[in-house]
Amino acid sequence: MAQANERNHSVDISTHTIFIPGATSGIGLALALRLKAAGSTVIIGGRRTALLEQLAKEHDFSTVRIDTADPASVLTARDEVLAQYPNVDTLIAMAGIMAAEDVHSADFLVTAESTVVTNVLGPIRLIAAFVEHLQAQADAAIITVSSGLAHTPVAAFPTYNGSKAFIHRFTDTLRLQLADTSIQVLEIVPPGVRTDLTPGQAEFEHFLPLDAFVDEVVTLLQAQDGSEILVEAVKPMRFAEVNGAYDQMVAAINPGL
Ligand SMILES: NC(=O)c1ccc[n+]([C@@H]2O[C@H](COP(=O)([O-])OP(=O)(O)OC[C@H]3O[C@@H](n4cnc5c(N)ncnc54)[C@H](OP(=O)(O)O)[C@@H]3O)[C@@H](O)[C@H]2O)c1
Repeated sequence: MAQANERNHSVDISTHTIFIPGATSGIGLALALRLKAAGSTVIIGGRRTALLEQLAKEHDFSTVRIDTADPASVLTARDEVLAQYPNVDTLIAMAGIMAAEDVHSADFLVTAESTVVTNVLGPIRLIAAFVEHLQAQADAAIITVSSGLAHTPVAAFPTYNGSKAFIHRFTDTLRLQLADTSIQVLEIVPPGVRTDLTPGQAEFEHFLPLDAFVDEVVTLLQAQDGSEILVEAVKPMRFAEVNGAYDQMVAAINPGL
């Protein structure tokens, strides 16, 4: 699908200095390992400090403790990262949470609010913290992480679906606003991938294996001629509404409703 302000850029994954808040596990960690192996310098971030220390030892990563739900932590981490790596040119706003919610239950609001803080305010805070630095770099990128659920919702996760729909449209708009800068704005749109994002998900047979997903993402990042990184498996969800298949797709991922 044609995107506004298409720049047809690819990302040379061997030359960048990349900060990934949300890379202590799952997609972020798998992507960090691929990008580092390809030759980029990768700084990983997250809240779990023991895991950060372990990953630094095991894989020789630079690490930073960051809680994207805390505005002060985002700024402290930004300052730490840029002090050590003044050439950071790529931000991958990976950190996210996914918690089941029921609007009828007493804890609905707590879950909904924390989802918005991490999945919506987190990327906004990160981008606000880094944009000035990034636009001073010759070849920079901001990469957000939405979801197929931004386009085809699953019933148990209303705020999560909404948070990722926000990321999709926010990313589109950011791309327009940054069109005259050195920053290209990309969006990774994962389908269901086997990680520990939700309980038991790492074993879901109908989700993509993590390695297969990240292999496809890396290929698309290098070859991409669109602003969305769309692996084959996410396309039915991503384009359901466009293709007139929205009701069928919603029914398919919400069996029994
Ligand atoms: N797996 C899927 O099926 C799927 C599908 C669509 C989209 N996604 C998106 O992909 C991203 C990565 O998820 P994943 O599947 O790889 O799950 P994951 O293994 O649970 O990874 C989530 C990462 O986000 C970090 N994180 C969460 N809250 C944070 C916070 N407040 N501050 C800093 N870091 C935080 C976690 O690190 P710490 O716990 O150490 O802080 C962890 O590194 C998320 O944005 C998710 O919504 C995943």
